[in-house]
Amino acid sequence: MAKKDQIPKKDSLADLPGVGPATAEKLLEAGFSSIESVAVASPSELASTADVGEATAAKIINAARLKADIGGFEAGDVVLERRKKVSKLTTGSSAFDALLGGGMETQAITETYGEYASGKTQIAHQLAINVQLPRELGGLEGSAIMIDTENTFRPERIGQMAEGVSMDAEEVLKNIHVARAYNSNHQILLVSTASELAEQLRDTDRPVRLLIIDSLTAHFRAEYVGRGTLADRQQKLNRHLHDLMRFADLNNAVVMVTNQVLAKPDAFFGDPTRPIGGHILGHTATFRIYLRRSKGEKRIARLVDSPYLPEGEAVFSVMTEGIKD
Ligand SMILES: Nc1ncnc2c1ncn2[C@@H]1O[C@H](COP(=O)(O)OP(=O)(O)OP(=O)(O)O)[C@@H](O)[C@H]1O
Ligand SMILES: [Mg+2]
Repeated sequence: MAKKDQIPKKDSLADLPGVGPATAEKLLEAGFSSIESVAVASPSELASTADVGEATAAKIINAARLKADIGGFEAGDVVLERRKKVSKLTTGSSAFDALLGGGMETQAITETYGEYASGKTQIAHQLAINVQLPRELGGLEGSAIMIDTENTFRPERIGQMAEGVSMDAEEVLKNIHVARAYNSNHQILLVSTASELAEQLRDTDRPVRLLIIDSLTAHFRAEYVGRGTLADRQQKLNRHLHDLMRFADLNNAVVMVTNQVLAKPDAFFGDPTRPIGGHILGHTATFRIYLRRSKGEKRIARLVDSPYLPEGEAVFSVMTEGIKD
């Protein structure tokens, strides 16, 4: 945090043949933040968003495919090798960790959703500290990147929580890289920037092992109002999540995103709230945690739709010293 992170510029969309500054702007506007995202688009999708003919769109996509590192097939044993590196990051509460099978998993996206004051931002702060802990204490000996969309990052709060795990606040803050995202496009772009920063730190003693977006959906919700724009929003959110999944895999990192809930007055069964983003987020987020308030500092975490863990609930506390049992 002390000095500004130096990030080299990568190839930008405008470097693609057939893409001028205006088209690049339109693509960005539509959520295509990287050469990779263009490379995997369909010509008709690109044609409609960038206002170019389909033939041109196909040319742009081909050029992007040549330039991009879109990856290919991996042998099963390579996938297995990578999966073996999956590790868990402690939340600070042993009950919460147990619910998650030991903590938040790397190479996965964990979505934490709930009403205001349910503890989403508190958990985000705690993870940014815990990721720096030694492995024997449930940490990943890494550093954190936080994309803050609501201006709720508080270094002072990090200080209190660092004390709660007997770490030096100033040292801890140095390993938390924070950026404000001013709108959804900016948010999407910051994931590219985060990837570049992670690349730089990969071979240091503080590799990036945690990426937080708090909140994932707030800008999207504010910018896309009305039914007609819902499909556009989902498409863009989908691409964004794809970038996040890639980040999690490449860096063996925990990706934690927060999400608000909408009141759903027509719900007859279950909790009358549902997370913003609907289906796409549901299928992409590997772990979904629904948070609700209980008495005083107590919070209840419920694991929803997990691919292999049993559904269940855990009670934890949000204290001055941080997230505890
Ligand atoms: N220093 C502190 N000491 C103890 N508890 C705190 C402290 N700071 C915040 N809290 C608790 O955390 C709550 C706020 O939780 P948090 O900011 O994580 O909510 P959120 O889920 O992110 O809500 P929103 O949807 O508004 O972003 C406060 O209401 C309080 O109970
Ligand atoms: Mg919050």
